[in-house]
Amino acid sequence: MLNIKNLSKSFSSAGEPVHVLRGVDLDVRPGERVALTGESGSGKSTLLHLIAGLDAADGGTIMLESADVTALPDAGRAALRRNRLGLVFQQFNLIPSLSVEDNLSFQARIAGRHDAAWHGELIERLGLRKLLRRYPEQLSGGQQQRVAIGRALAIKPSLLLADEPTGNLDEATADDVLALTRDLVARTGCGFLMVTHSLHLAGTLDRHVTLHAGRIT
Ligand SMILES: Nc1ncnc2c1ncn2[C@@H]1O[C@H](COP(=O)(O)OP(=O)(O)OP(=O)(O)O)[C@@H](O)[C@H]1O
Ligand SMILES: [Mg+2]
Repeated sequence: MLNIKNLSKSFSSAGEPVHVLRGVDLDVRPGERVALTGESGSGKSTLLHLIAGLDAADGGTIMLESADVTALPDAGRAALRRNRLGLVFQQFNLIPSLSVEDNLSFQARIAGRHDAAWHGELIERLGLRKLLRRYPEQLSGGQQQRVAIGRALAIKPSLLLADEPTGNLDEATADDVLALTRDLVARTGCGFLMVTHSLHLAGTLDRHVTLHAGRIT
């Protein structure tokens, strides 16, 4: 479902190239839940940005189902993000002026992928029924992240990408949020690639890979 081959990416720093990714190979199967760890600066966020088409690779290929992300023009990558990818970050990135209910559904509506039955199921499974009329500033961190995960899954993505999604949560809340995410990923049948610094959380997924010296080990 996600098939990455020989992916490379450099940045230039003070005129010198910094080779961050040096031939990354990684596969994620439908329904598979993979944890990505690696020391700070090893390129985890860079890899997620490339998969999401938020930045362009220098070489290699990223196949997401039948689409080659690296070969698509900007508009194609934006369409892929809108229709096939769920993105969750450490900062919850909810829209402050929208209620929980509208935060959950607006991206799916823009993409023409709103499904009322699935929307209702997400609300129940994420325990958001009593919070629908609230605004993000009236929610705890764990509640905000549950909304962000619901928003990402509302389009029924093929792949859910998460960059330290529980990094701002205490350990018990992080465990709860991740347990819900694992269940929803299983229900959706999408792939799940999650960056984490927690070996404990990494151990709760199907597989654990590490980025080191520009490659996946
Ligand atoms: N836009 C950019 N321009 C220049 N250098 C960059 C850019 N983005 C990332 N880098 C560099 O690439 C390297 C990898 O950064 P990245 O954010 O992917 O690491 P990370 O593994 O996510 O780290 P962390 O665990 O701290 O989040 C770092 O050395 C960083 O300084
Ligand atoms: Mg990072």
